[in-house]
Amino acid sequence: MAPELFGVPLKYVSLVVLTVQNSLLVLIMRYSRVSTTEHYYTSTAVLLSEVTKLLVCLYLSFRETSEGATAASLGKEILGGDSWKMLIPAGLYTIQNNLQYVAVSHLDAATFQVTYQLKILTTALCSVLLLHTRLGGRKWLALLALTAGVALVQLPPADNSSAKQTTAGGASAVGLAAVVVACVLSGLAGVYFEKVLKGSRKSVWVRNVQLSLFSMAPAAIGVFWVDGAGVRRDGFLFGYSGWTWAAILCQALGGLIVAVVVKYADNILKGFATSISIVLSCLASVFIFGFQVSLVFVVGAALVIYATYLYGAADSQDKDKAKPTPLP
Ligand code: C5P
Repeated sequence: MAPELFGVPLKYVSLVVLTVQNSLLVLIMRYSRVSTTEHYYTSTAVLLSEVTKLLVCLYLSFRETSEGATAASLGKEILGGDSWKMLIPAGLYTIQNNLQYVAVSHLDAATFQVTYQLKILTTALCSVLLLHTRLGGRKWLALLALTAGVALVQLPPADNSSAKQTTAGGASAVGLAAVVVACVLSGLAGVYFEKVLKGSRKSVWVRNVQLSLFSMAPAAIGVFWVDGAGVRRDGFLFGYSGWTWAAILCQALGGLIVAVVVKYADNILKGFATSISIVLSCLASVFIFGFQVSLVFVVGAALVIYATYLYGAADSQDKDKAKPTPLP
């Protein structure tokens, strides 16, 4: 039987938690960058987020090992066998996590969110290429509609010139380039992780310990290489505020949820969950911040909902086809 939490399959719980976490992360990250004049060094935040995930996943791996297992046997499980396979997603994710901060520092939250949706398509492409996932015409149509819908939902209103200002200068080219590369890395790393996880019997927490452990070196190199001079001059925690810690914890939490989502669902469904989260967070801001709903928003939201329905319908049709025909 599929694992459940309070009677609800973990697959759906993890997808819903991911939608909430995703909506919060961008806002917290952006706020942590713009709310103070002393800018913290983002590479240090990426490193601390990996340390947090490593500690949590080590604890969870210990808890799930059978009685009698020792630290040595767990160590062997973590470092032995095909653990080297996690080097690839660890490197890709570390670059992606650093680029995410570059992008969010150069683009406003809305532009960042719109362009980051390219992830849906890069992930689908990587799934087809690496996992040999077969996507029929209806699923591709659903994915394109989803990307377009999310982009429309997030377009700032025409008269909101302040929201567009940050995209006009030279700095935005850096931001946009960072987003595009981050999307490609997200698709590659996510699908590669799924391939390794589902192709072996090692638990998701052991895989995540490996991922964080191997991310430590590139993340530390990032600190020295990108921000080394500043960190030596001002200190590792220079410019940290409560919001910085919140961003670190939220990013770490996101990583843990992504791991569960990939285990019980898959990377493409993850894209749908995050898209719905965007529609929900915009709707929430109607009530909280008095956000004005435009026609473009309604069309975008309708596209997202239709795309989700279309993908789900095509998926269950595929599953029906895959069922063995009962014997007469
Ligand atoms: O944007 P995207 O969904 O690709 O981001 C995935 C995030 O989850 C990255 O920050 C990555 O470091 C993290 N992650 C993780 N453990 C996994 C998979 C992803 O911590 N197993």
